[in-house]
Amino acid sequence: MSETPGFVHGLAGVPVAHSRICFIDGEKGILEYRGYPIEVLAERSTFEEVAFLLIRGKLPTRAELDDWQSQMKRLRRIKYKLIDLLKCLPETGHPMEALQAGVAALGMFYPGRKSRELEPAIRLTAKLPTLVAAYHRLRAGDADVMPKDELDHGQNFLYMLSERMPDAVEARIFDQCLILHAEHSMNASTFSARVTGSTEADAYAVISSAVGTLMGSLHGGANEEVLELLGRLGTPDKVKPYLDDAMAKKEKIPGFGHRVYKTKDPRALILQGLAERLFQHRGSTPLYDVARELEKQMLERVGKKGIHPNVDYFSGIVYHLLGIQTDLFTPIFAIARVAGWLAHWVEQMEDNRIFRPSEIYTGGREVAYVPIDRR
Ligand SMILES: CC(C)(COP(=O)(O)OP(=O)(O)OC[C@H]1O[C@@H](n2cnc3c(N)ncnc32)[C@H](O)[C@@H]1OP(=O)(O)O)[C@@H](O)C(=O)NCCC(=O)NCCS
Repeated sequence: MSETPGFVHGLAGVPVAHSRICFIDGEKGILEYRGYPIEVLAERSTFEEVAFLLIRGKLPTRAELDDWQSQMKRLRRIKYKLIDLLKCLPETGHPMEALQAGVAALGMFYPGRKSRELEPAIRLTAKLPTLVAAYHRLRAGDADVMPKDELDHGQNFLYMLSERMPDAVEARIFDQCLILHAEHSMNASTFSARVTGSTEADAYAVISSAVGTLMGSLHGGANEEVLELLGRLGTPDKVKPYLDDAMAKKEKIPGFGHRVYKTKDPRALILQGLAERLFQHRGSTPLYDVARELEKQMLERVGKKGIHPNVDYFSGIVYHLLGIQTDLFTPIFAIARVAGWLAHWVEQMEDNRIFRPSEIYTGGREVAYVPIDRR
């Protein structure tokens, strides 16, 4: 069926928008937000500044950044009714499910939510960490922790999770992780955000669609699977028998491969450096030895097919070292990526046309209706 002329399975390589937000060269391993190389932004910028860059289209002046940060701080708190809603969700649920429900509910609290002004964008960027941290604490039977105005975005999230003040090195590394995950052109969740936005649904519906799309194991869910795999393998000597078996069954190895990158994902390179900085700060983890062995053997086996570590490969190790529970990895991805989704929503609405692709019908025609008792 994938041979049908005009049909492109998974829309691979089919442009669906003109965009000024993100440049990627998958062969050379280049990633730029609004033309700024990711390496420079990760080294010199902060998540708040990058969110401004993505959503507003330019780097802020000092006054613009101060204003942006104070608006984000002002909008961090969530209403007690939303806390009550999160309390009612089953603790057996995944925090991504709670986040999607929380974002959808958020839209009901704000009159004028259909506005295309920037306030919903700032509110969503500000409140996603509060929703994730609150659900995480409530599901364990703990009280939620109020945001602290004196902390920056990433630092405040770590604080709301544990009620413990993160040290400066950890907070900076976490902020850099948020920068690395903030945007990545037309991936599945961004496309989902654009499709929802194109119907003129509001920003809350746009972001809850995108959160739902990010949930799957082929997209944001892969970083959880990487950590689960490394933990299951436990020692480097288990890598070879695992790979022999998985490759024979044609299984995909989590954290490897990318639709766009045919070399090591530039974000994986930076994350590996961040993981190593954390090791110096906190001590290493045996999981890293397993990860290095797995990467080495994957390179030997499938490197020439362009299968290399992607962003999810080292992010899980970094979060694990920061003491973050595995099922929060994908929500953290969402906390960062919300900036990219919103940038695409703003851009989509500048020159909107509802998405309405076609399909190639392969079902039956003019089928005779059989009454139910004769089927
Ligand atoms: C990301 C991903 C969905 C991209 O998929 P895609 O562009 O559709 O690529 P395909 O599934 O067509 O794979 C192309 C080839 O590479 C192989 N391949 C791709 N990813 C692989 C992986 N993680 N492990 C082993 N082989 C892989 C496929 O088996 C296929 O081989 P073939 O040509 O011999 O059949 C895919 O690489 C994957 O599932 N990776 C694991 C999950 C993951 O880490 N996701 C996070 C992405 S940031």
